[in-house]
Amino acid sequence: VAERIAVNAPGGSYDIVIDPGLIVRVAARPADYRLDGHVAVVTNPTLAGIYGDALARHLPHAVVVVMSEGEQYKTLETVAKLYVDFVRVGMDRSSTVVALGGGVVGDTAGFAAATYMRGVRLVQMPTSLLAMVDSSVGGKVGVDLPQGKNLVGAFKQPEVVLIDTDVLRTLPAREWRCGMAEVIKHGLLADETLLDPGILMNPERAPEVVRRAVQVKVDIVQQDPFEQNVRAYLNLGHTFAHAIEQVSGYNWLHGEAVAVGLLAAAKLSQKLGICGRALPSEVEDILAEVGLPSRLGWLDREALWAAMATDKKWKGGRSRFVLLRDVGQLCIVEDVPKADILDTFRSLE
Ligand SMILES: NC(=O)c1ccc[n+]([C@@H]2O[C@H](COP(=O)([O-])OP(=O)(O)OC[C@H]3O[C@@H](n4cnc5c(N)ncnc54)[C@H](O)[C@@H]3O)[C@@H](O)[C@H]2O)c1
Ligand SMILES: [Zn+2]
Repeated sequence: VAERIAVNAPGGSYDIVIDPGLIVRVAARPADYRLDGHVAVVTNPTLAGIYGDALARHLPHAVVVVMSEGEQYKTLETVAKLYVDFVRVGMDRSSTVVALGGGVVGDTAGFAAATYMRGVRLVQMPTSLLAMVDSSVGGKVGVDLPQGKNLVGAFKQPEVVLIDTDVLRTLPAREWRCGMAEVIKHGLLADETLLDPGILMNPERAPEVVRRAVQVKVDIVQQDPFEQNVRAYLNLGHTFAHAIEQVSGYNWLHGEAVAVGLLAAAKLSQKLGICGRALPSEVEDILAEVGLPSRLGWLDREALWAAMATDKKWKGGRSRFVLLRDVGQLCIVEDVPKADILDTFRSLE
């Protein structure tokens, strides 16, 4: 059963369609998805082989444009190559970019679509769990600089987001777990159902899990499209996570760092007397069931603190954490003493 979530965004509204088998239906009836015009399917070599080439063959006027795979290619150089390819394949202002892939393809192709000829239509077709529940929703696109992640970007609302949960069958297990960390985050933000491992681990419930997790993000970005207030709650666990990624030399994947970050946020909330129940142990149990880490291992605590202090969301050097009173009840706490943070790290060794 197809689910449609309507999103009101500043640049106009669009739908998120969640439907197992959608990619096959899109190929069979491109006009229903406004993909019968001139289309560039931007994807990476792996996904071109599994889905992209077949999809493009079925669309009447589509070409595949391949970009390199991996976060290290989420760069302006890749965007520049995409522009050249767009010109080569005859893309004009009435053409459509289809971003078929994980968050790397979505962010990079999305940024190219936002800027090529001052913007062409963008259709997001997220293929990783993370891209389905997080990066394809909310209109942020962009690339990394050598100096830091996501330092260049734009807001670009898609025409439509097409989510085929069947493609998760080919997603590597480690990537699936990483997406689950964001799903659990969305559960903590607003939907207790997403904290039930029995539901998360049941492949038949993937469409429901994705729909619920998407809905949480949609509700938040609709309230705050330009990140002035409640959108900050989406950073739950992420101050810790970014430090963990950095100090691990990016050996930890983002979702793995988010997992420990969520537990750290729960533990800090408890330590500061903010959360009223046994949230940390609840979070720890869920992470264990999904197979996500909940310990810092050898990562150096002082190095983690130093990395957090460079967080771009810490205005004027004051620490700033999204913390939990309870599931669905978030708050922002500033000026948390360093000692409490180091204690939190210690409890995660
Ligand atoms: N724009 C936003 O609001 C936002 C939000 C969160 C994250 N992001 C960005 O998203 C990126 C991470 O995205 P990601 O976790 O999807 O990583 P990714 O795009 O690198 O994908 C992970 C890996 O899985 C592969 N893959 C994806 N779908 C597959 C499938 N169905 N079958 C087989 N292989 C598949 C990809 O080819 C890749 O190798 C980061 O760059 C992050 O900054 C953006
Ligand atoms: Zn994240």
